[in-house]
Amino acid sequence: MQKRNRSKSTYVCQQCGAKSPKPSGRCSYCGAWESIVETLERDDKGNRSWTGPGKNSGPSAALELSSISTESHPRVKLPFPEVNRVLGGGLVSGSLVLVGGDPGIGKSTLLLQIAGAIADSGKTAFYVTGEESAHQVRLRAQRLGIGGDKIFILPETNLTAILESLDKAKPALAIIDSIQTTQAEELESTPGSVGQVRECTLRLMQWAKSQNVPVLLAGHVTKDGAIAGPRVLEHMVDVVLYLEGEQSGNFRLLRSVKNRFGSTNEIGIFEMQGSGLVEVENPSAALLSERPASTPGTIVVPTIEGTRPLLVEIQALANPTTYSMPRRTASGLDANRLIMICALLSRRAGLPIGGMDVIANVAGGIRVDEPAVDLGIALAIASSARNAPIAEGMAVFGELGLAGELRSVSSPERRIDEAVSMGFRSVLVPATSKIAKRNGIEILRASSIREAIAITLKHPLNERE
Ligand SMILES: Nc1ncnc2c1ncn2[C@@H]1O[C@H](COP(=O)(O)OP(=O)(O)OP(=O)(O)O)[C@@H](O)[C@H]1O
Ligand SMILES: [Mg+2]
Ligand SMILES: [Zn+2]
Repeated sequence: MQKRNRSKSTYVCQQCGAKSPKPSGRCSYCGAWESIVETLERDDKGNRSWTGPGKNSGPSAALELSSISTESHPRVKLPFPEVNRVLGGGLVSGSLVLVGGDPGIGKSTLLLQIAGAIADSGKTAFYVTGEESAHQVRLRAQRLGIGGDKIFILPETNLTAILESLDKAKPALAIIDSIQTTQAEELESTPGSVGQVRECTLRLMQWAKSQNVPVLLAGHVTKDGAIAGPRVLEHMVDVVLYLEGEQSGNFRLLRSVKNRFGSTNEIGIFEMQGSGLVEVENPSAALLSERPASTPGTIVVPTIEGTRPLLVEIQALANPTTYSMPRRTASGLDANRLIMICALLSRRAGLPIGGMDVIANVAGGIRVDEPAVDLGIALAIASSARNAPIAEGMAVFGELGLAGELRSVSSPERRIDEAVSMGFRSVLVPATSKIAKRNGIEILRASSIREAIAITLKHPLNERE
C-alpha cells in the first residue's frame, strides 16, 4: 500500500521530550536508555486529537458542569453476567476495552464468544484478526458453536485498511485481535513497538468515540504482568481487563484492573472447556472441590475480590532445605509477602522454618493479592511445618503486622457469610474485628500469629509423610 505521508514521524524521548530524526537506543540529551519512541507529528490544528463523541475536529467548547447530562452511559448488556459485572454493568458505547492476558490463555476465545453474543442479538460484530487466518477463526467458531451470521472477519494488520473497513461496515462492536499486530503505515517501527501500539490505540480510540461503537482490543502480557511493550496503552484505554489463570488449570479469571465506568478489581470466573469459556456459577464450591480433607498445609480463606466474596484454598509445603539458603516460592500469591510471613513465623512464633524451603500456592490457579490472606498463608505454612492439620470446617482471615499482631480487614461479615454458605462451622478472625452477631458459625478470635497457631494447630500427626 502506498505511504500517505500526511504526518511526519519523529523519534521522541519519553523521559525528556527531546526529538531526533533517527531511532537510537539511548537519548543523546538526557542519557536515558530505551526511552526513544517513534511518534507522529500532529499538525498545529491538532486535528488528530479526539474532541468529543460525534465530532471529528474543531475545538471543544467548555460546558457548565451542572448543564452536563447525568444520564448514565448507555451499555450493551452481554448474555454473560460475569463479563457484564466485570465491565461494571455491560459494555459502554464508544468505549475502548483492552483484554490482556498471557499467550494461549483464551483471549481470542472470549472475544469470539462476545462477537457471537452480539450477533445472536441481531447486531453486527466485526472481528479483525492479525494473528490468525480467517479459516482458523472459522474453525474456532465451529468448536464454540458459533454459526457466524452477522460476524465479519477481516484478516488485516494495516490500521488504515482496518479503519476504512470499519467505516464501511458500521458494526455494533469491533474487535481487534491483537493490538500488537496492528500497524500504522506512517511509522517505520515494527508492529508491537511502543510507537506503533500507541498510534494504533489512539486512532482506534478516535474511531470508537466518533462512531460511538465499543472496540475491544486483545493484548499480550509479558512475564512481569505488564501489557507487552507499552504501559501507555493501559493509560489510554477506558477499561483494562486481564484474563488470567494457570495454563494447566481450567479456571480463568477475568479481572478489571482499570475501569472508567465502574469499579475495579471486579472478577468473573470461568472454566475453559472445549466449547469455550463457561461461567462458573458457584466459584467458591468450584475452587474448593478438590480440597484434600485433614491434610497438613491446607487452609481456606474467604477473600473479597472486587465486590465478591470468594473462598480460596491456600496450600503450603515446608520442608528441610538442601540448599545453603532456604527457598521461598509463591504461586498465585505475592512473593514478597511470603518472605515477610516466613520471617514473622520464625521471629514472632518461634517456628523453626529458617532451615526449611517453603512453597505456598493458591489452589485452582487463581491469584489473590489482598492482605487478608496473610493469616491463611502463615497457618498453612505452620500446619505443614508442624505436620498438624487445621480443624475440619474452619476458615481464617486476617492481615499480619510486623510485630506478629493480627489486624482486622474489610468486610468481615461478608467473608463469614460466604463461609457459612459453604458449610464452614468455625472461623478464626483478628481479635479487633467488629462483627455483628452471626448464626450458624463459631467465631474464634486471636490477637497474634502465636495465638492463632495455638488455637488452630492442636494435634500434630505422629509420622511425617
Ligand atoms: N479443542 C479444544 N478443547 C478445549 N480447549 C481448547 C481447545 N482448543 C483450544 N483450547 C483452549 O483454548 C486456549 C487457547 O485459546 P485462545 O486461542 O483463545 O487464546 P489466546 O489468548 O487468544 O492465545 P494467543 O495469545 O495465542 O492469541 C488453549 O490454551 C486451550 O486452553
Ligand atoms: Mg489469540
Ligand atoms: Zn531524553
